[in-house]
Amino acid sequence: MTTASTVVARLRAAGCVFAEEEAELLVGQAADATDLDRLVAARVAGLPLEQVLGWAEFAGLRVVVEPGVFVPRRRTTLLVRLVLDRLARRGDGAVVVDLCCGSGAVAAAVRAARPDADVHAADLDPAAVACARRNLSPATVHEGDLFDALPRHLLGRVDVLVANAPYVPTGDVALMPHEARDHEHRVALDGGGDGLDVQRRVAAGARPWLAPGATVLVETGRHQAERSAALLRAAGLRTEVVLDDEVGGCAVLGR
Ligand SMILES: C[S@@+](CC[C@H](N)C(=O)[O-])C[C@H]1O[C@@H](n2cnc3c(N)ncnc32)[C@H](O)[C@@H]1O
Repeated sequence: MTTASTVVARLRAAGCVFAEEEAELLVGQAADATDLDRLVAARVAGLPLEQVLGWAEFAGLRVVVEPGVFVPRRRTTLLVRLVLDRLARRGDGAVVVDLCCGSGAVAAAVRAARPDADVHAADLDPAAVACARRNLSPATVHEGDLFDALPRHLLGRVDVLVANAPYVPTGDVALMPHEARDHEHRVALDGGGDGLDVQRRVAAGARPWLAPGATVLVETGRHQAERSAALLRAAGLRTEVVLDDEVGGCAVLGR
């Protein structure tokens, strides 16, 4: 039989640094002893804790996370804060689009804080879309390649376009922790040769979708921030790099 102390021991033996905290969460999540055994086995096999639990804590919300879907990171709460800053200057009904939405965590956090906003999310990966539809109103989650996924009625109406597109250079994916490279879909991680292939396409395609005075927000790596900003400038936007040391976030804001 699996008890709390044996869970801690199994997790510790598997190299989990926060074995006690994880054990508490797994015990709390399990329906019964058999279920607990299954959850612990999955975690010991290397699945991210959030995929084992089926949820992640993000910006004060419990966000559903399904197998293969990118686990929302704390650093990405910077994007939420910046979207809400921008929305504070727009009226009710402002349109927000979360491109490359994954679980839909950013869109869900924005919608929770601003229920009046018209929030849409989109992703290429059917697993991410299915997951985001559990975190958001299903009809507001669209499937497809970047802007191709969006309903045409949003053309020229997007007040805030936010994207945490993959930005890990292809050559660095192999250096990522096993949890990420084995259990998050490659399309969620691999940003191409310099890591900026998807951001480049976001920047190039954004203009027709933006409302006057709109803001574009892109998460990026600190060492890539100047190149990410240059992509938005090439699309005719004025840019600013925003760092948040508390959450470890880096974003480029384009207006
Ligand atoms: C780094 S994850 C971020 C997920 C989510 N925004 C978050 O912060 O938790 C990148 C996401 O981009 C999606 N993606 C990659 N290429 C895409 C494309 N061409 N069109 C739409 N989504 C894409 C992946 O499926 C993945 O869900």
